[in-house]
Amino acid sequence: MRFNLAIDGPAGAGKSTIAKRVAKELSFVYVDTGAMYRAMGIYFSDLGIAPEEQEKIEAACKDVKISISYENGEQQVYLNGVNVTGRLRTEEAGKMASATSAYLEVRKKLVELQQEMAENTDLVMDGRDIGTAVLPNAPLKVYLTASAHVRALRRWKELTEKGQTADLAKIEEDINERDYQDMHREHSPLVQAEDAVLVDSSEMTIDEVVEKILSLARERM
Ligand code: C5P
Repeated sequence: MRFNLAIDGPAGAGKSTIAKRVAKELSFVYVDTGAMYRAMGIYFSDLGIAPEEQEKIEAACKDVKISISYENGEQQVYLNGVNVTGRLRTEEAGKMASATSAYLEVRKKLVELQQEMAENTDLVMDGRDIGTAVLPNAPLKVYLTASAHVRALRRWKELTEKGQTADLAKIEEDINERDYQDMHREHSPLVQAEDAVLVDSSEMTIDEVVEKILSLARERM
């Protein structure tokens, strides 16, 4: 049986940084499922479809193929055969992903791909519904969170360190809005799985969180 580690939590909790490090330490594959929802969001945007156009979104789902490959250990996302990895990390792609991930057709498509990947590989997968819907039997589930203020501060630091101007209050507002959307949707809302271990990283360093998750994983392997 494959060892699958599920990490869920709200936007900006550090899931991808931490999941990537944990995967590397365990020599597991890291799967960033948010990137898949972002690629779907880009697909709808490119077609000129607005997030509230449910019928168009459902119809467009029939003709989309998302696939994943790895180059030098880095996940690459292909949208209908084109590598869109470089377009995924914008605020716009995040908002579009959050809005369109609420549709069942969108989720079905991606959950199927995620479950297929988990059948064949030892992996660390992060997202919103990994422990609750995608890998309900994962031997280790972590719910990684931090206060909205701490998450906003981290994002603000990341942007200002890159030389970009950023408004802390606006970032915190966007984070709260995305949390609300992800936690209140009908299909697979963001919620801590009953058997998930809660890790609040508000007062922890990245190294401490990685160590904590690694020790939990090693206990269960
Ligand atoms: O994690 P990331 O910010 O890249 O995710 C973008 C959006 O995709 C989230 O706000 C969420 O709405 C959606 N998502 C999801 N289920 C997942 C991963 C992401 O609904 N497993």
